[in-house]
Amino acid sequence: MAHTALADVIERGLSSVPKSLPPRVLYDERGSRLFEQITTLPEYYPTEAERALLTSSAAQIADATGMRTLVELGAGVLDKSRILIDAGLAGGTLDHYVPVDISVEVLEQSARELQLRYPSLSIGPREADFMEELAIGDLTSPVVLSFLGGTIGNLFPIERIDFLRRMGHAAGPGNYLLVGTDLVKDIDRIIDAYFDSQGITEAFLLNVVQVINDECGASLCTEDFDYVPLWDAREARMDLRLRARRDLDIDLPGSRSRCRIAAQEEIRIEVSSKFTLEQVRTELQVAGSTVLDQYSDGDFALTLAVVDS
Ligand code: AVI
Repeated sequence: MAHTALADVIERGLSSVPKSLPPRVLYDERGSRLFEQITTLPEYYPTEAERALLTSSAAQIADATGMRTLVELGAGVLDKSRILIDAGLAGGTLDHYVPVDISVEVLEQSARELQLRYPSLSIGPREADFMEELAIGDLTSPVVLSFLGGTIGNLFPIERIDFLRRMGHAAGPGNYLLVGTDLVKDIDRIIDAYFDSQGITEAFLLNVVQVINDECGASLCTEDFDYVPLWDAREARMDLRLRARRDLDIDLPGSRSRCRIAAQEEIRIEVSSKFTLEQVRTELQVAGSTVLDQYSDGDFALTLAVVDS
C-alpha cells in the first residue's frame, strides 16, 4: 500500500499526546458529501445565515470594492459564489472569478457550471491546498479574496492570524478580504448545530475511522468510538472528538508500526471557534488589514476589510 502524506499526518496524530488529527481528515469523498448534508440541517444555522447576509450585502460589497477579481477559497458551494458574482456583474466591474479548492473534481465541475451561466466571465480555477500554501498568482485589482462558511474558525488562534496575514499577502495592499465567521450565542443552539437529531454530524466525525483505515491500512471499527462534541467555554469553541470505547491496538501496516488507544482516550478532530464582532476586527487588524464593514444578523458575520499598505 502506498504511503501517502496524509497517512504520515494521521500516524503522527495518533502517536502524539494528546491524540489529534487535522480537520482535513474529515473531507474524503464520503465526508464531503456528509458535510454538504450538514449544511442543509435545520440545526446547522451558519449556512443559511451566511447566505442571507451575502444576499443582503453583496451589492454594497461590490460597490464599496469595485471588484474586478473575486477569489473564493474553498469554493465548494456554488450558490454562494453566484450571489457575489451576480452583484459584481450588476455593478459592471467584475471580470475574473478564481475559485480555489483542494479538490480538482469540485473545481472543474463548479467552473463548468459557472461558465455556462456566465459566458462573459473569465473563470480561472486554481487547485491548491490553501491551508498549506496560499499562492494564487497575479490577480487584476481590485481583488476581493473571500473565505466564507466560518472555516476560519476551524483554525487555532495563532494559525488564524497567520492565515489572515497570508490572505492579505495573496490579495495585495489596497485589495479586500471578505471573511465569514460564526458568532458566540446561546450555547444550546451551538451544541445542537454539532449534535443534530439525525446523527449526520456524528456520522461525519465517525467517518474519520474509515479514513484512517483507508489511508493507513488499519482495521478499526466505528463501533469502537463515540462521537464527543464538547463546548469549551474558555476558548469559545466547539471541540469535536472521538472517544475510544475500549483499549485498541492499531496496526499501521503502511509504516510497519503499531499504536495504542486506551479505553476512554480521546482523539481531537476539529475545533470550531465562535467569535464576537470586535474579536474579528481585532484579529484582522493584527494580521494587517483594516475592517471597513461588518454585516451580521447576530448569529453569523461577514467582515469586509482592506489590506493595509
Ligand atoms: C467547515 N466548518 C466551518 C464547519 C464548522 O461548523 O466548523 C465544519 C463542521 N464540523 C462539524 N459540523 C460542521
